[in-house]
Amino acid sequence: MSLPTESTSTRYAADVSARIPPRDAVQGIVELAPRDRAIWELAAPHLDVRDNDVHSLYAYGLAAALQALLPGSRAEIVLPAILLHDTGWSTVPDKLILAAIAPGGGRPDLVRRHETEGARIARQILGSLDFPETDIEEIAAIIDGHDSRPEALSPDDAIVKDADKLWRLTPHGLRTVQGWFGLDADQALRLCCARVHDSLFTEPARAMARGLAAVASLDLAPERTALG
Ligand SMILES: [Fe+2]
Ligand SMILES: [Fe+2]
Repeated sequence: MSLPTESTSTRYAADVSARIPPRDAVQGIVELAPRDRAIWELAAPHLDVRDNDVHSLYAYGLAAALQALLPGSRAEIVLPAILLHDTGWSTVPDKLILAAIAPGGGRPDLVRRHETEGARIARQILGSLDFPETDIEEIAAIIDGHDSRPEALSPDDAIVKDADKLWRLTPHGLRTVQGWFGLDADQALRLCCARVHDSLFTEPARAMARGLAAVASLDLAPERTALG
């Protein structure tokens, strides 16, 4: 691509590409490790409902970010668990899923079913990839209770729970929740803030939630919308 030869107020004329560091020389860039790519290939067909595939990828990114910040946690447990955690929704009839997760009660029996079925599917997928049996059991235990269990079993469990909830405050999460329940953007933001900030287990996740909510709030501020 050719660059303009003279600087303008919005475009610097010189080529700065030689000053851009490679991906592995900077912090914060997340991509699926080969181990997780193999899991994703097998998990994706079970995630093809209710935007769960996109949710799972963003939650993977958040889990990887949290895992990098929390010494003592294990990527080989956290990352497979987050990719597989919602595979069980594929066993719940599509038209019942939103009723299951709606604010104000929903269907706890169906929430429980997606956890137990998700643990079963995870065991099957990880077994086919020759994962160590002890890791498979840890990952399955995290999935079997990721929504309904009020406490975290381990630092790895805490990260999976936090990444899953943090997604709601991402741009994709807020747009998705807005569409599910027919809300406007401000209602979706308030609902997600009410359901996320006080439910997090780790300090880095609490900081991320505040940051995501702050940016989403300012997206809706009159001073911002007036700027187009
Ligand atoms: Fe879930
Ligand atoms: Fe989830």
